[in-house]
Amino acid sequence: MNTEFLQITENPEDYQKIINKAAEVIRKGGLVAIPTETVYGLAGSALLQESAEKIFAAKGRPADNPLIVHIAEPADAETLAETTPLYYRLAEAFMPGPLTVVLKKRDVIPSTVSAGLSTVAIRCPANRVAHDLIAVSTHPIAAPSANRSGIPSPTNAKHVFEDMDGRIDMILDGGSCDIGLESTVVKLEGDSCTILRPGAVTEDMLRQVCAEVRIAEAVLDPAQADGKKVESPGMKYKHYAPNAQLVLIDACEEDFVRYVNRNGKGKHGVLAPEESREQFASAVVLSTGKRGDVKEASRPLFDLLRQADEMELETVYAILPPPRGEHLALYNRIIRAAGCRITRP
Ligand code: TXA
Ligand code: MG
Repeated sequence: MNTEFLQITENPEDYQKIINKAAEVIRKGGLVAIPTETVYGLAGSALLQESAEKIFAAKGRPADNPLIVHIAEPADAETLAETTPLYYRLAEAFMPGPLTVVLKKRDVIPSTVSAGLSTVAIRCPANRVAHDLIAVSTHPIAAPSANRSGIPSPTNAKHVFEDMDGRIDMILDGGSCDIGLESTVVKLEGDSCTILRPGAVTEDMLRQVCAEVRIAEAVLDPAQADGKKVESPGMKYKHYAPNAQLVLIDACEEDFVRYVNRNGKGKHGVLAPEESREQFASAVVLSTGKRGDVKEASRPLFDLLRQADEMELETVYAILPPPRGEHLALYNRIIRAAGCRITRP
């Protein structure tokens, strides 16, 4: 298959032409990779069984891992799922934005999209291209992250091209993603919710709207999700892993630097803040930006893991982030990228 690569432009006429062309692909059951504020998505109509089947095939995704359905406006969920008062409170507070809400599904959603579950995950993205494509195509859009299954999610169009060239109809290049980690996924129970996947909408933010906020066990301890029945199927699969071995060190920065300088062998790298660059004897420094800025450290994570593979690093060392607050999303991704192994020096 020939994959068309189109650059999003500022020029309003050209922009509209690109959106119209991509919308036509969606309506005809084809696949278009699109930017969102979190990561790039692999978009197909959420109303067409064949589109969902193509998504699973292009990604090499296990058939029991359901897709998120993206909508243009929060109220569009009404025809796809059984909404609740809490859904609308969450929508008011966090949509459009990096929040996905799991609701009881209606029959219009093909079972391939929901992987046979009675629920469907709904998200209203803030990215303009994603929004306009959904609105113009007039289809809700099923979109998992646009990576081949198991490896780091794509946060720019180059990553998508590496994974999807020749496998999908079109890639829209809208630059780098603002957030860089996937959306927060929550399941609702009355006035309370459970975080199935942490993201930029944090536990504290959710508490302002929900009576109670629980964090699913598999978020804090992904190793125990292996092979078990979990609340979100995505929890049980190998994820985000580069070819390089990612070694997570549970230590303060000083001990981390000492550990890497003593133990780093072969071609190795470190995920470390810009300010500590000079302290490493022989490691390639993959800069996570200004020290102490979680957002800045989260945004480039997947790109840095892909860069490590491009440089053919054998090992990459990183400090284990704290499993709470605004660090939780980064913790959850990095611990899984490291195969859930933690080194305590
Ligand atoms: O930020 C995002 O959410 C990105 C962009 C493209 O929107 N999408 C994304 O999709 O990360 P994906 O397919 O890579 O991850 C979806 C996650 C998986 O962990 C899946 O198991 C979970 O959401 N999920 C989807 N439907 C679910 C459902 N009905 N119940 C529980 N978990 C569900
Ligand atoms: Mg994914």
